[in-house]
Amino acid sequence: MTSELAAPLSRRDVLQAGLLAGCVGALPRSLRAADSSAPLITKPIPASGEKIPVMGLGTNQFGRTPYDDVREILKRMQQLGGTVIDTAALYGDSEVQIGKALSELGLTQKMFIATKLNAPGGPGDIGGRESFDRSMQRLQKVDLLFVHFVESVEAMMPLLTDLKKQGRVRYIGITSIRTPQYPQLLEYMRKYPIDFVQVNYSLGDRSAEAEVLPLAEQRKIAVMAAVPLGGGRNLLISQVGDRTLPAWAADFGIASWSQFFLKYVVSHPAITCAIPGSSKLEHLEENQAAGRGRLPDAATRTKMEQLWAGKA
Ligand SMILES: NC(=O)c1ccc[n+]([C@@H]2O[C@H](COP(=O)([O-])OP(=O)(O)OC[C@H]3O[C@@H](n4cnc5c(N)ncnc54)[C@H](OP(=O)(O)O)[C@@H]3O)[C@@H](O)[C@H]2O)c1
Repeated sequence: MTSELAAPLSRRDVLQAGLLAGCVGALPRSLRAADSSAPLITKPIPASGEKIPVMGLGTNQFGRTPYDDVREILKRMQQLGGTVIDTAALYGDSEVQIGKALSELGLTQKMFIATKLNAPGGPGDIGGRESFDRSMQRLQKVDLLFVHFVESVEAMMPLLTDLKKQGRVRYIGITSIRTPQYPQLLEYMRKYPIDFVQVNYSLGDRSAEAEVLPLAEQRKIAVMAAVPLGGGRNLLISQVGDRTLPAWAADFGIASWSQFFLKYVVSHPAITCAIPGSSKLEHLEENQAAGRGRLPDAATRTKMEQLWAGKA
């Protein structure tokens, strides 16, 4: 699968773009974030049936984002209906800033907070229970605790299952954003009673579709899609240039390429939610808007894939 729009959009797409004539990427912010009256899309966590909004927030930049911006983003996210926040013990001061902002805003109990555990001797400054205790101290509440790296799963799973048994966290999981690790991840998905996995998934990286997503569906494991926009260095939107969206995108409330990419991700039946990283308020608003309205159906997903591959 190519990770670039390999060819210009077809003449048909351009002609069909009547409704969205011109450069959609240049639409004013108010329009891209429009239609907040459309219904919020939620999906159930298979292990419990608890419904969460499909559009969350990734925060690996929040350690170096000015505190006032973090506060404003979290406040706005909650106003827009979003609840799912993904952070990690390893993300610098991300947990610190999130914990402080949510507490000041009185939102801690309203949000669904996921963080990731460092293992002792791993890349973080502390590991194991100490890492969890520090996350709790910073965030006040952790709904979902991941083992950050596949390499640490064997060592950390007893602690995770213990914390869940004690009711300190409600859900546990494993993250891996490296495709070569998927065989090991699949083994752990079969071996341990995890509630969530977090893997890379975007139109530019569909490697999870082969085995991880089908196994997650089979074993009733929720999937949180990381790096849904391709990531800062490989941003999918930067590969789109000034191409226009196809007219049919409007049928799904898609008014920008970022929304196109995000709606693609969360419309996969096995994906429970996505966590686009947004350290800018306008990005957060645009992304949250993609968590409302209609999701693309299977036929539309195929059209999106063909468009991305330059075949439409
Ligand atoms: N488990 C793991 O090991 C792991 C690894 C990587 C990531 N993650 C998680 O996944 C999250 C998402 O990954 P990511 O942040 O690397 O990649 P991403 O979400 O695919 O992309 C984030 C980038 O997209 C930009 N962006 C966001 N919304 C946009 C919009 N509407 N229009 C244009 N640009 C937009 C952001 O800019 P601004 O920041 O300027 O808004 C940022 O540069 C992380 O924050 C983290 O929580 C987990």
